[in-house]
Amino acid sequence: MKYKKIGDILILDKGYCDEDFERLSRKHNVKTIMRIDHIQGTKREPVYKILYGSETETINKENGCLFKLDLSKVMWSKGNNNERLRIAKLVRDGERVIDMFAGIGYFTIPIGVHANASEVIAIEINPNSYHFLCENIELNKLNNITPVLGDCMVETPKYKADRIIMGYVKTTHHYLKVAIDSLNEGGILHYHETVPEKLMKTRPIDRIVCEAGGREVELLKLNKIKKYAPGVEHVVVDARIY
Ligand SMILES: C[S@@+](CC[C@H](N)C(=O)[O-])C[C@H]1O[C@@H](n2cnc3c(N)ncnc32)[C@H](O)[C@@H]1O
Repeated sequence: MKYKKIGDILILDKGYCDEDFERLSRKHNVKTIMRIDHIQGTKREPVYKILYGSETETINKENGCLFKLDLSKVMWSKGNNNERLRIAKLVRDGERVIDMFAGIGYFTIPIGVHANASEVIAIEINPNSYHFLCENIELNKLNNITPVLGDCMVETPKYKADRIIMGYVKTTHHYLKVAIDSLNEGGILHYHETVPEKLMKTRPIDRIVCEAGGREVELLKLNKIKKYAPGVEHVVVDARIY
């Protein structure tokens, strides 16, 4: 049986058999056991079943950061943990960063904790995620984060940044032009995409170059994050735009 522990909640894979959930809860020292069938819609909301217990809010510790979240309302992707820290380590002193799809602060909080950015503008459309984003800014005692509740298509053009994170995998390319237009000369874009394996080395980069118009694009890195579905990879492209 496959499972993952998020804070003090155990998430079982769909393939579990009839289990003694009370015994399982004691073994793993958790208050609740859930099954998350899938994550739906633009706001990335979980479709779930509670198998044991009732409380779905928890605090997950990762890479020295605290993330408060309600697993019945917002998603948590354990497979993205290395990427969350990798980005925080890339941020240089004094940078202004835009996190266009901030969620509960998946990238914003590690940047606040591990880097010395002048400001992180964290935009999130889902009010439930925005609520936890604000709580997590307080929980981690951060004072350089500006949370924004709204659509990043509308909000991003109000700002300019040295680095923009596009940590979303549904139709992310629709937001590329808006992101690039807000990027300072020589700024860095982290563009996420789910892509068929055979297009991995071409499609995400081609899309950035296309939306950059006349601006020069320097490819810095193509990073595989995880397998998204059979034959489909979740990748991130780091690109400097002049
Ligand atoms: C859940 S995160 C992706 C996971 C994250 N990359 C990680 O490391 O786990 C994507 C977030 O983008 C938000 N979102 C989707 N469309 C948006 C938009 N147009 N403007 C702002 N936020 C948006 C969703 O509500 C969701 O919270």
